[in-house]
Amino acid sequence: MNIVLLGAPGAGKGTQAQKLVADYQLAHISTGDLLRAAVKAQSELGVAAKGYMDAGKLVPDSLVVDLVLERLEQDDCKNHGFILDGFPRNTKQAEVLDSALADKNVALDAALLVDVASEVIVNRLSSRRTCRECGYTGTAADETCPRCSGEMYQRDDDKPETIQNRLNVYQENTAPLVDYYDARGLLKKVDGDRPVDDVYADVKALFGL
Ligand code: AP5
Repeated sequence: MNIVLLGAPGAGKGTQAQKLVADYQLAHISTGDLLRAAVKAQSELGVAAKGYMDAGKLVPDSLVVDLVLERLEQDDCKNHGFILDGFPRNTKQAEVLDSALADKNVALDAALLVDVASEVIVNRLSSRRTCRECGYTGTAADETCPRCSGEMYQRDDDKPETIQNRLNVYQENTAPLVDYYDARGLLKKVDGDRPVDDVYADVKALFGL
């Protein structure tokens, strides 16, 4: 099963992806996680991407596209399929993805929109905490990571001044992808403004899991 996750920052894409990956062994391709790892490693990519990420802007396509295409080549994407979380982020990226998958004779099964109102999102992102070691996503209530006991920290782009900017960037660049995938008959939608496990039950039902 090959899925693209759509939704505003903080809608719960990563949270639902973590559950699908744990239960169905899909490869989780999170461009945000890949870019944060590059920043942490202070690689050339990380140094180039950091300023955009801290400001809540999209990292240029020229830096992101190859990262994803290389990741799609890895063996784990060929076993049970993949979840793309945070890519594509604009129409250009969606077109590049379509073309790369067509070349490999691989089809997308769905684009799943996790739908949440922006008022809810601001609260969620302000209280999100992320594990420095394994990337687990939790909340301010998690003093240490429930998965690996690592240190939980607040992402730089989860500071209040950056959140609104990220929402604006989403509306302008990424929201049009809902129509893009709807026109291709691939759009599925779940109400993300409910408890995590209720959202997940709906996700599984949508995919017949
Ligand atoms: P990225 O890491 O992709 O950030 P994002 O899309 O803004 O998504 P988030 O990770 O913030 O949110 P999410 O929907 O995964 O929510 P989560 O599950 O964590 O990208 C970061 C940056 O990298 C971008 O700004 C950009 O600069 C760059 N970038 C990445 N991809 C790019 C690309 N393709 N092109 C260009 N630039 C790119 O949940 C949020 C919080 O809510 C958590 O605390 C969670 O515990 C909680 N929560 C989740 N679900 C629920 C629920 N149902 N009820 C209550 N709380 C919930």
